[in-house]
Amino acid sequence: IPVDPFDLVIFGGTGDLAQRKILPALFRRFCAGQWPDDAQIIGAARAEYTPDAFREVVAESLRSHAPAQSRNADALNTFLQRVDYVPLDALSDTAWDRLAAKLADDRVRAFYFSVGPQLFGQLAERIKHHDLATPKTRIVVEKPFGHDLESARALNATLAAHFSEGQIYRIDHYLGKETVQNLMAVRFGNMLFEPLWNSQYVDHIQITVAESVGIDGREEYYDRAGAMRDMMQNHLMQLLCLIAMEPPAKFDPDAVRDEKLKVIRALDPVEPHHIVRGQFDAGPSGAGYRDTVGNPRSTTESYVALRAHVSNWRWAGTPFYLRTGKRLIERSSVINVMFKDAPHSIFGADAGRHANVLSIRLQPNEGITLKVTIKEPGPGGMRLVDVPLDMSFAEALGSENQDPPDAYERLVMDVIRGNQTLFMRGDEVEAAWAWTDPIIAGWQARGDVPKPYDSGSTGPGDAELLMKRDGRRWQGINP
Ligand code: BG6
Repeated sequence: IPVDPFDLVIFGGTGDLAQRKILPALFRRFCAGQWPDDAQIIGAARAEYTPDAFREVVAESLRSHAPAQSRNADALNTFLQRVDYVPLDALSDTAWDRLAAKLADDRVRAFYFSVGPQLFGQLAERIKHHDLATPKTRIVVEKPFGHDLESARALNATLAAHFSEGQIYRIDHYLGKETVQNLMAVRFGNMLFEPLWNSQYVDHIQITVAESVGIDGREEYYDRAGAMRDMMQNHLMQLLCLIAMEPPAKFDPDAVRDEKLKVIRALDPVEPHHIVRGQFDAGPSGAGYRDTVGNPRSTTESYVALRAHVSNWRWAGTPFYLRTGKRLIERSSVINVMFKDAPHSIFGADAGRHANVLSIRLQPNEGITLKVTIKEPGPGGMRLVDVPLDMSFAEALGSENQDPPDAYERLVMDVIRGNQTLFMRGDEVEAAWAWTDPIIAGWQARGDVPKPYDSGSTGPGDAELLMKRDGRRWQGINP
């Protein structure tokens, strides 16, 4: 269904995120017929491009990042005609009238802040000052949303001085991932899972976001952030919320976000001995962390594993194990809901231990698998085996669904539609920092040094111990 006509201004339009993610996502939606006839995108950045020169840059990016769609020359050219450019500096008052002249008064107007957070305040202020904000105006801001609770609060206050919460779209691109949304469909669209979704039946939950990439090109940012701020505070936290939250009354923005907020607020502080930090060493895939960032004494973590507790009626006693890291053996993001063993085995001790596992694979091979126990076929007696009930989307839904849409496709169109369900509310972000800050402060106070792990490995051995101590083990990316 096409969305309403819109003007989308991308500040930082020449930057990496805009060229690699936002514009290709918009192009793919355009090719899918989701654009109304007269929508337009206006890039805005400091570079003195003419609109034509900017279009050339965009065309190049689309050829790399939306190759299949770009092969259709007609589609590419028609899309590029909807792309415009205004050279503009967020720190100066010139050229805003040129931008204003390109915008229509009565339609959806979105400003995408694809720039460093230090510019958010200046941009918000100038949009207001130059009278560019209409009732149909929305602003989109990227992570990192603050560095800690205090800076996140300040950022929220700056934005709130110029825009209402209903106009602010804070992106966490994990919420746009197809399988993440599917997680809600599976939980709340089926009778099967929800009655078992609690500490009585669930032994524990594992959330793994493993990356094989390092931090090349982002050394400066990353060395100040680390895995806790870069991934745990936002992406893994959001996954935890969707797994742990109570059913919202409706799939609407505030109903969903109210429930997520309750989860974050119910998180216990994490005990220091329930956290493992790691930092990658050199390996076949490249230099070690400290060489990469050019800081031989850096104590920033590129890996973190921890055990969290959601202290509420549903989850009392069920640990949530979360881990994420860079330069690991493979790229693999998966949530495993580990059910308890059956209370009694009628097949005797020889049948071994079997427990159901619901695996929600975010990437690669998006899909959901339920491990169930059945009898091994054949006349050899009652031998039990675990087999996957595979709900791979590609197979089940046909080949046109093999390539799930990129997270940004969904999220950018939701901004235009005015649907905030998959965006973080200000109080949610602050609550997540309130949980994260003491963990980081504890490391600093203790002078904690992360454990080294080999590039291309499964992470520090202590992360295995974290589980082993509890009589459990990680699923997937195991030694
Ligand atoms: C970003 C982090 O938010 O997410 C990166 O800043 C990380 O460090 C990326 O690599 C992971 O996203 P995806 O979609 O590749 O899993």
